[in-house]
Amino acid sequence: MNRNDPCWCGSGQKYKKCHLAFDEKLTLLERQGEEVPPRKVIKTKADIEGIKKAAAVNNAILDLVGTKIHAGMSTEEINTLVHNYTIEHGGIPAPLNYSGYPKSVCVSINNVVCHGIPSEDTILKDGDIVNVDVTTIVNGYYADASRMYMIGEVTPEAKRLVEVARECLIKGVEAVKPWGHVGDIGAAVNAHATANGYSVVIDLGGHGVGNDFHEEPFVPHVGEEGEGMLLVPGMVLTVEPMINEGAYEVYIDEKDDWTVYTEDGLLSAQWEHTILVTEDGIEILAY
Ligand code: MF3
Ligand code: CO
Ligand code: CO
Repeated sequence: MNRNDPCWCGSGQKYKKCHLAFDEKLTLLERQGEEVPPRKVIKTKADIEGIKKAAAVNNAILDLVGTKIHAGMSTEEINTLVHNYTIEHGGIPAPLNYSGYPKSVCVSINNVVCHGIPSEDTILKDGDIVNVDVTTIVNGYYADASRMYMIGEVTPEAKRLVEVARECLIKGVEAVKPWGHVGDIGAAVNAHATANGYSVVIDLGGHGVGNDFHEEPFVPHVGEEGEGMLLVPGMVLTVEPMINEGAYEVYIDEKDDWTVYTEDGLLSAQWEHTILVTEDGIEILAY
């Protein structure tokens, strides 16, 4: 790209006035041995606007779930709620038919870590802790977030897990800095989980998101500060730690090939945000 060409990011500015210094910085850091993100995961202005529109619908869906969720409701009803709201607001539920996933949302109860498939036969009951994970596509752009909901009276132990899992998410998000590293996220999450006597799932993690459901980089929720891919302005990624009451090990249901359970049958909790790395920090897009 020539200095006077319009910048690849679509800002309309000349390359020399826009991303030239950024590209030179990345080239230098790569020569110094840093793992740098590929250009395809650096969002343009138009990408970011698009992802924000998807996030607005996604956030509204999770708010709606919060007003409707109750004991006695089937997880299929949550699926219908999410599916219909998405379609009515010009979106597409990303999970539906994603790698053969059969429903429009993931609903994961108690010892289900993630990817719980909604069913008429799964009825929410008093004391359950429930993760609802929603991913919405609007005009080809993706936003991905999940929240925990507590049904009726939950035990103090379950409540503490849900709260600490939320704190782990916040610690992970706060660890994201422009020109920092992906490993900073896992280091912060794991430190907070273990300090509270919990463990962090390692088989699944966060991910780049925005132009596709799952993009580079993979975002582990355990790690070492200063390690892994460089985090640079324009990257959009999820932080979504799965925090277990007992051991970190998980297994996948043999029958449906999706549902992830804790190996020891103890509780698991998860919250997820989609965040944008900016010049001077981060912006939370989907929550
Ligand atoms: N929303 C999940 C995530 O946070 C992915 C679900 S994949 C599905 O990455 F197919 F189960 F929907
Ligand atoms: Co998700
Ligand atoms: Co995700």
